[in-house]
Amino acid sequence: MKRLNKFISECGICSRREADNLIISGRVVINGKVVSELGTKVSEKDIVEVDGKVLKEEKKEYYLLYKPREVISTTHDEVNRKSVVDLVKSKGRVYPVGRLDYDTTGIILLTNDGELSNILTHPKRDIEKMYVAKVKGFFKKGDAITLSNGIVLDGVMTKKASFKLKKYNKKTDTSYVNVIITEGRNHQVKNMFNYLGYDVLKLKRERYAFLDLSGLKSGEYRALSLKEVKKLYSLK
Ligand code: URA
Repeated sequence: MKRLNKFISECGICSRREADNLIISGRVVINGKVVSELGTKVSEKDIVEVDGKVLKEEKKEYYLLYKPREVISTTHDEVNRKSVVDLVKSKGRVYPVGRLDYDTTGIILLTNDGELSNILTHPKRDIEKMYVAKVKGFFKKGDAITLSNGIVLDGVMTKKASFKLKKYNKKTDTSYVNVIITEGRNHQVKNMFNYLGYDVLKLKRERYAFLDLSGLKSGEYRALSLKEVKKLYSLK
């Protein structure tokens, strides 16, 4: 027996929390009866439907993609731009863990494992994400300290981070800055630089927790090993 929200998320349609919303709103049917109790448990014999579709547990798939520029990391887009999901040939319905902007490149995970996705994107989990940002102008030491210690964005202080100048190109007047953050707020890195007046010209995510882009070119992906999946689970 397992909890209904866990079962739904393991079928790859959404996270556990989103499954709770489906249950509360009466969209889940077990053996022909609407069930809106969050604590409900199901066994293999039960037939579970969401919005009239019978759910089947999918084989779990886990991928690490080197996202190119000009690809969205949501699954739907009003103007039909290419999505990270289109770049991965998967048998199931994998979806991205967190987001990268349309013009941001680098590492992004995709999976149909709602439980893992939930663990990794939970705001309480301080998973390190390492970026290299190319910004206009010389990135001053004092500004690195300010951003590392935290600033107020949208009324909330950013968590401790690390901003370090890697290289300054005098000719083009641009700085390359290594950035480590543990949060995943919308456009966070760009907004932090913008706060001090720096324009971000390029942004690349080079590391997600212990995973990096080794061996991959832009647009390429690989499956995660069982060991890596277990390690991601252990970040709980
Ligand atoms: N921060 C940003 O500003 N953009 C991203 O894509 C990721 C982090």
